[in-house]
Amino acid sequence: MIRIAVMASGGGTNLQSIMDACESGYIDGKVVAVISNKDGAYALERAKIYGAETILIPSRGKRREEHENEVLAELERIRPDLVLLAGYMRMLTANFIERYRGKIMNIHPALLPCFGGKGMYGENVHRAVLESGAKVSGCTVHFVTPHVDGGPIILQRCIPVLDSDTVETLKARVLEEEHKAYPEAVRLFAEGRLKIDGAVVRIESANNE
Ligand code: GRF
Repeated sequence: MIRIAVMASGGGTNLQSIMDACESGYIDGKVVAVISNKDGAYALERAKIYGAETILIPSRGKRREEHENEVLAELERIRPDLVLLAGYMRMLTANFIERYRGKIMNIHPALLPCFGGKGMYGENVHRAVLESGAKVSGCTVHFVTPHVDGGPIILQRCIPVLDSDTVETLKARVLEEEHKAYPEAVRLFAEGRLKIDGAVVRIESANNE
């Protein structure tokens, strides 16, 4: 059973999908702690209901390194096997990311390497997709590297972009896919089936296949 720490700043629907998957046994793991930089983040309430430790480390007014060192100290204590970013709205330094290389994942609400990078978060992403005229969108789970939204892709799920789509409808349909993709990626990690080969993640077949 792997120990998972989740970092979240917002509503935490992806966090919920991971906790649900642990509860049901789909993931052989446990969310041991949820760390947030935002007071009042609903993700923390969800974590309390589930029974994970909740850790609030406000980032407001703090220098990036100062805040990160507090987070790192908590992670050292918690000793997670895997760190998940789930709507964590604060950039991490290369130092932080290197510490957890190969053990830290993020979910992005578009098909990387398109529609990622600076400024591409929240509704901006879906707006950019609609404005581009792209006919498909989706979500991407990837390992985190110091290159923003540029780490090795673990898995993606696609949906069609409809003529009738608005930012809201596209966001909602992508989110449904996120809630399937993230647990699946974590399950593969927990099964030891993700092998990072340079920029590429290879998924090894299950022993019983
Ligand atoms: C999701 O769209 C995710 O892709 C992005 O942030 C959002 C978090 O949503 N990284 P939630 O807090 O999990 O509901």
